[in-house]
Amino acid sequence: MIKEIKDINYIKNLSNYKVTLNPFNKVIGYYINDILVGFLDYSVMYEKIEINYIFVINEYRRKSIAYNLIKYVVDNYDFENITLEVNVNNVSAINLYKKLGFKIIGIRKKYYDGIDGYLMEVKNDNFSN
Ligand SMILES: CC(C)(COP(=O)(O)OP(=O)(O)OC[C@H]1O[C@@H](n2cnc3c(N)ncnc32)[C@H](O)[C@@H]1OP(=O)(O)O)[C@@H](O)C(=O)NCCC(=O)NCCS
Repeated sequence: MIKEIKDINYIKNLSNYKVTLNPFNKVIGYYINDILVGFLDYSVMYEKIEINYIFVINEYRRKSIAYNLIKYVVDNYDFENITLEVNVNNVSAINLYKKLGFKIIGIRKKYYDGIDGYLMEVKNDNFSN
């Protein structure tokens, strides 16, 4: 079950990621038997969506949870494009985004403590189910 997380303290138990609170930001969680096993932090700026972070706890990886969190956003907004930045070495995340139709459209030099990041984008029409 996917639902919005209003109290971001719940996330602190899962990951060190710090949610930035602003009016554009939302966090949704993936629950199995009422237990939070993953979350997606994203921003909606009119017709543009930015994925800020996605996380699934180790034991629950490779079960399409991340895929379904992103799919939830895609199904619930009328967006033009979704963008994100990802560490060039993060193979699992890059594969996830490519599977969903994201393309690498730029490089952010030394974005992650000296390591480059890819800027990736999917346009609404190119999203793969
Ligand atoms: C990246 C992450 C969120 C993926 O979560 P997940 O729920 O395991 O992903 P899914 O099961 O939905 O995977 C969907 C697709 O992504 C790709 N993928 C996911 N994990 C992968 C891995 N370890 N190796 C290669 N490809 C992988 C595959 O194409 C997969 O499809 P398949 O299982 O049919 O082959 C998870 O590994 C994670 O939390 N990593 C740590 C946090 C992180 O790096 N977040 C990204 C920040 S930008």
